[in-house]
Amino acid sequence: MRNEEHIKSFVKRSGRITNVQRYFLKNKKNNHNFFTPTETINLYKLFDNKNPCVLDIGFGDGKLLSNIAKINTNINFIGLEVYESGIGNILKQIEKSNLSNLKVSNIDAVSFLKKYVQNNSFYGISLFFPDPWPKKRHYKRRIINANFLENMLMKIKKNGFVKIVTDWENYGERIIELLDENKKFEKIQDISIYKERILTKFEKRGISQGNRIIDLTYKAK
Ligand SMILES: C[S@@+](CC[C@H](N)C(=O)[O-])C[C@H]1O[C@@H](n2cnc3c(N)ncnc32)[C@H](O)[C@@H]1O
Repeated sequence: MRNEEHIKSFVKRSGRITNVQRYFLKNKKNNHNFFTPTETINLYKLFDNKNPCVLDIGFGDGKLLSNIAKINTNINFIGLEVYESGIGNILKQIEKSNLSNLKVSNIDAVSFLKKYVQNNSFYGISLFFPDPWPKKRHYKRRIINANFLENMLMKIKKNGFVKIVTDWENYGERIIELLDENKKFEKIQDISIYKERILTKFEKRGISQGNRIIDLTYKAK
């Protein structure tokens, strides 16, 4: 495996795309809420202000992320999603709510962090219901592992946070183990941005199946 390659935490598949999603995808290059990084990002330039910035990885249908951005106008948000339908969806939501503090990209979060993000730049990084890859032989595809935690740690500021929510018990327990083993993280109470957040599709499904929701917030010491 070449150095910059890594095992992908997703499998690219062409899902169903609605007409509205297609419209936004077709015009995404001219949409200032969409960006494709080609060099290290300057967050101040990207948002034209110095507000703290939170990165959300794998926003899915985008409803939670756009809702949080709408409520927290003094914080900037970057959302990453590899599925195009999600990008089309969130661009529609950003336009509808006229949000200037949320920008999105259609890029693998692992490459994004490594190639385009300065160290000590984010206020926080969130992952809501990362793909659990339940079969043991697929655990290697899980996005959260010791390396990825280190990469996240490097990219957040001192006292910045990492928030991870899952309903997959065995993944959640492993994440707790990894966070506790990494002595540079410290468990904290939930931070105010996420108080009274709406439930995501995956969270609703987990609850309806009787799964325990493991909701973790850690700060970088
Ligand atoms: C189970 S879904 C959860 C979606 C959303 N956060 C929610 O709770 O509804 C996981 C999402 O992560 C995205 N994803 C997986 N690996 C990714 C990666 N390396 N970079 C960006 N997005 C990724 C997938 O495309 C998928 O939409």
